[in-house]
Amino acid sequence: MEKADLNWGELPFSYIKTDCHLEYYFRNGSWDEGAVVADDKISLSVAATCLHYGQECFEGLKVFEAPDGSAQIFRIEENARRMIRSAQKIHMSPLPVDMFIDAIFKLVKLNKRFIPPHGSGASLYIRPLILGISSLIGVKPSTDYLFMAMCTPVGPYFRTGLKPIKLIVEEDIDRAAPQGVGDVKVGGNYAAGLRATIKAKEAGYAEVLYLDAGNKEYIDESGPANFFGITHDDKYITPDSNTILPSITNNSLMAIAKDMGLTVEKRPVSVKELPNLKEAGCCGTAAVITPVKSITYRDEVYTYGDGETVGSISGELYKRLTDIQNGLVEDKFEWTRKIPLG
Ligand code: PLP
Ligand code: COI
Repeated sequence: MEKADLNWGELPFSYIKTDCHLEYYFRNGSWDEGAVVADDKISLSVAATCLHYGQECFEGLKVFEAPDGSAQIFRIEENARRMIRSAQKIHMSPLPVDMFIDAIFKLVKLNKRFIPPHGSGASLYIRPLILGISSLIGVKPSTDYLFMAMCTPVGPYFRTGLKPIKLIVEEDIDRAAPQGVGDVKVGGNYAAGLRATIKAKEAGYAEVLYLDAGNKEYIDESGPANFFGITHDDKYITPDSNTILPSITNNSLMAIAKDMGLTVEKRPVSVKELPNLKEAGCCGTAAVITPVKSITYRDEVYTYGDGETVGSISGELYKRLTDIQNGLVEDKFEWTRKIPLG
């Protein structure tokens, strides 16, 4: 089958309609067989709990084309397990891991003409989501749920790709409360962060860096991604916090960093450590590794690298990660799975 007619090398991180998405309903205590739906509009009760009380969680993962034309997906079981944790935390019916994987494999096969060609730098981004759909007006969990899996071909989240971005430490707006839901992927967290992101963009920054909401001393994460730094003595350091999303990309980078012989420290990282870093970066499925050239904190601006190019360690981490994702090297961590397309 011919690929869709798209400018693959220039894809932004935004929605392009594909051939179909999948819909599965949870009613009377069980999930149905699912349906393939071409129309990308859905129909919901005006009283659905997802609309009024934010009973929604989602995931994000990527499919890459290997040099031989096969399709491979990165760490799908981890996303499946994280979606279970997200659903459970906001009292929604979780989706079994096998059902999550089967749905995504089917979705990718049906939309295979939208898998960006190997070498284009783009990927097929998969968005599974669960919505509470019972018509309730009191604040309580739905009994019925809709699981959908959709996909769209994307380029890098930050338009700059591997060109370093500027961050600003946000002290006046919190993304997540200490005992809240910052550690799961629920839509409300992103709505909560919009005003901080917009404020940062208006001031000329690509994104914010949040601090822990309790003490405003430790680094949490950026709006759409985790944060890591490389110290002058070549340690990979990344915040340990119960108010950030446990990033699958960050977890992978920690393993790659160890494999490169770096010491890895996942621990509370004080904002006072920012001047001690030689490289800094954001990491996530959408962000991959986006290098950070400066972080503004109150009246200080801490700078990293030459401001134009990715630092040598971040660059090596990026290469090793994306080489595995794109099937260019042996996947010794067994992170990728082939998706049958025939
Ligand atoms: N933090 C937030 C708030 C995110 O939305 C994401 C993206 O999923 C990440 C971190 C990175 O997580 P992952 O690497 O699993 O995509
Ligand atoms: C991802 O990286 O997959 C995400 O969901 C982050 C999102 C803000 C684009």
